[in-house]
Amino acid sequence: MAMRSASLVLLPLLLCASLSSISTLVAAQAGDEAALLAFKAAAVSGGGHDNLLPSWNTTSTGGFCTWEGVRCGARHRRVVALSLPSHGLTGTLSPAIGNLTFLRELNLSYNNWLHGDIPETIGRLVRLQMLDLSYNTFDGGLPANLSFCVSLLVFNLRSNRLHGRVPVELGNRLTSLQQLSLAK
Ligand SMILES: *[C@@H]1O[C@H](CO)[C@@H](O)[C@H](O)[C@H]1NC(C)=O
Ligand SMILES: *[C@@H]1O[C@H](CO)[C@@H](O)[C@H](O)[C@H]1NC(C)=O
Ligand SMILES: *[C@@H]1O[C@H](CO)[C@@H](O)[C@H](O)[C@H]1NC(C)=O
Ligand SMILES: *[C@@H]1O[C@H](CO)[C@@H](O)[C@H](O)[C@H]1NC(C)=O
Repeated sequence: MAMRSASLVLLPLLLCASLSSISTLVAAQAGDEAALLAFKAAAVSGGGHDNLLPSWNTTSTGGFCTWEGVRCGARHRRVVALSLPSHGLTGTLSPAIGNLTFLRELNLSYNNWLHGDIPETIGRLVRLQMLDLSYNTFDGGLPANLSFCVSLLVFNLRSNRLHGRVPVELGNRLTSLQQLSLAK
């Protein structure tokens, strides 16, 4: 009897908890889609041909997890990899990239003309293991906030126009790093 009344009390609580975690997940997925669309708008903005990434449209049936270069985790359907090397991207890297907080791999190498700063928001990607921005035209300095990407194993910035000093925080905090390339 005591058990039973306890579960009657608990049931609505459990329902509330799981409904709220479902709505949090749905909101997080909508956030990933908005971040991807902002990423695309900035990345294609540099005067390249305008039909880049045609699968990246909100009417595609499978949703953003089926977009070219996007990989989602099986459980949460959050973006875990974004890989668009040699895709003719000519614009900038949107600060919205920092909203893809489940990202483990980001490969934008060999686009040649991706330019501008590496946004500080990249420091929100604490699960990021692989960051490849090589063979582009990024300029400015290395953001100190990269030091929050504590899961980084591979970090390749080869052949860009970055300048300035390597922030000391990177050496202090990126202790998992196995490969680092900063060659011009
Ligand atoms: C990214 O997240 C920030 C902070 O939560 C929010 O203000 C911004 O609107 C988001 N950007 C996009 C494109 O969803
Ligand atoms: C949207 O993407 C789907 C594939 O995901 C494609 O078949 C369709 O042609 C695209 N629509 C537009 C307007 O580009
Ligand atoms: C990124 O993609 C390029 C082209 O496919 C590949 O050569 C490179 O190894 C990738 N970067 C990493 C760190 O895996
Ligand atoms: C820098 O990274 C920290 C830690 O992830 C994050 O809280 C902060 O918002 C980032 N800064 C900016 C300007 O995005």
